[in-house]
Amino acid sequence: MAGAQSTSSLPRHVAIIMDGNGRWARKRHLPRQAGHVAGVNAVREIVRAATDIGLENLTLFAFSSENWKRPAMEVGALMGLFRLYFRNDMDEIVERGARVRIIGNRSRVEQDIRQMIEEAERRTLGNNGLNLTFAFDYGGQEEIAAAARELARAAAEGRLDPETITPELVSSRLFTSGLPEPDLVIRTSGERRLSNFLLWQSAYAELLFVDTLWPDFDRKEFMDALEQFSQRERRFGALPEAVA
Ligand code: FPP
Repeated sequence: MAGAQSTSSLPRHVAIIMDGNGRWARKRHLPRQAGHVAGVNAVREIVRAATDIGLENLTLFAFSSENWKRPAMEVGALMGLFRLYFRNDMDEIVERGARVRIIGNRSRVEQDIRQMIEEAERRTLGNNGLNLTFAFDYGGQEEIAAAARELARAAAEGRLDPETITPELVSSRLFTSGLPEPDLVIRTSGERRLSNFLLWQSAYAELLFVDTLWPDFDRKEFMDALEQFSQRERRFGALPEAVA
């Protein structure tokens, strides 16, 4: 599908903080869970759009390590939705040639969900379409601390010279190892924060904050976001070309 984008100006990696499900529900006098249900529909639509336009990498913030602090009923409802999503949508994801990865702390999620995650990763391992990554029980600071811990351990055991620690080496110890850094991070619902999402990886990402609540973020909004990205000038710390 051609869409509004030419492939050359597509970001290689788009990461999205899907925010605003609760407010979407409140506006309709519905329980928060209804907002999350609508949020899953938006996930489906954006994954379809991403595969249709041939995007290489899409990373979605599905559950943060802080989200466990929400009321048990809401956490339970979200977990139920993840189960449903993996059960209902995986065939389509496989058909669309996407490869699924989950980044985050797997040890805290219930065993059946862990198994579903592993199964989804296994089933899609050989796919070479969209890299579809879900950040689940994910926190950026914890991720960096875990990488530091691993490198420190190697240094303490004499397997690593601390002088050889480079940003590339740190990157290789993050959950996202092997994925390019995000070019574009979108957050919906008007909040202007990164909320511990891909902190290291977003060093040079373009940030786009849109007021739309996540359940209303549709294919058109996604295309508009990509269009806005294509008009930004990225310099990575260098001077603009006209000046250099
Ligand atoms: C933020 O809305 C969203 C989340 C906490 C989780 C995102 C979850 C989904 C989009 C649904 C499930 C996803 C998958 C991959 C199946 P919020 O509750 O913080 O909204 P609020 O700020 O308006 O209260």
